[in-house]
Amino acid sequence: MVHYTELGLVNSRELFKQAMAGGYAIPAFNFNNMEQLQAIVSACVETKSPVILQVSSGARKYANQTLLRYMAQGAVEYSKELGLSIPIVLHLDHGDTFELCKSCIEMGFSSVMIDGSHHPYEKNVKLTRQVVEYAHKYDVTVEGELGVLAGIEDEVSAEHHTYTRPEEVEDFVSKTGVDSLAISIGTSHGANKFKPEQCTRNADGILIPPPLRFDILDEIMNRIPGFPIVLHGSSSVPQDLVAIINKYGGKLKDAIGIPEEELRKAAASAVCKINIDSDGRLAMTAAVREVFALQPAEFDPRKYLGPARDSLKKLYIHKTINVLGSANRVQ
Ligand code: G3H
Ligand code: 13P
Ligand code: ZN
Repeated sequence: MVHYTELGLVNSRELFKQAMAGGYAIPAFNFNNMEQLQAIVSACVETKSPVILQVSSGARKYANQTLLRYMAQGAVEYSKELGLSIPIVLHLDHGDTFELCKSCIEMGFSSVMIDGSHHPYEKNVKLTRQVVEYAHKYDVTVEGELGVLAGIEDEVSAEHHTYTRPEEVEDFVSKTGVDSLAISIGTSHGANKFKPEQCTRNADGILIPPPLRFDILDEIMNRIPGFPIVLHGSSSVPQDLVAIINKYGGKLKDAIGIPEEELRKAAASAVCKINIDSDGRLAMTAAVREVFALQPAEFDPRKYLGPARDSLKKLYIHKTINVLGSANRVQ
């Protein structure tokens, strides 16, 4: 067992307290490899933002749990080397079993999500409570979830949202002891969050998706005032990146995300953590496709992974400054 403090990591408790007071959200960026980690850490150091490094169970299988642990420790050292020691949380994204959460805690994670949202309510409460009891022994923070996001979540595909029921949140939070709660108010995972027929067109012909259900968020905030809320599925699917991908041979159709203004509004409320993964995938893919198309003789991976990393860093700098408001929060 290695405790996260030995790796120089922090849990999310203090960060959420500060985010709540300051009206901003902590970025939760997923990573699977070195270039993504470099981009996240260098962007957050440059903008003086705290950060949550997210690892999904798929990422754990892809990258190897031991390597990930040392990479997270490396991220802490890299941040110091870049000149600012930013707070870094290592978080399990969409943990689906007690055993997976326990194993991550033993490998040095400082925060875990137990996503029991697909289970019946009582089973979700029981499973979440079990993870909280174990995690809190090690001062590891726990995120639970109520409500189901449309799209693919946890390898379960839901055709429609099941919005979080505000009348359940007090009971869930008090019975489970979770430290934060992911809710469903209209965001979803992936790059196709809305069908074009669900959207309206503005004067420039740009598709505008239906607004998030801020009424549900408000009711939740009234019922559990000051409690940290998490938004999953919060990529904005930048259309310039989609255009580059399609220009250079990609086939992304009807890719639509969450408008940045909506995320800015959410970040100013009790939403303390915003999850972004797909936008990073788009940034990397656009850069790699461009190199492959324009420099077909190139075969040194650094020549395409380097530009992918640069593009990712630029995206994350934009997110912390202009979307989440987490920039300049580390002294
Ligand atoms: O919510 C899911 C995250 O984007 C992680 O995706 O399971 O493909 O690693 P993944
Ligand atoms: P996106 O697919 O919108 O980036 O959401 C990522 C996420 O919620 C990870 O848990
Ligand atoms: Zn998610």
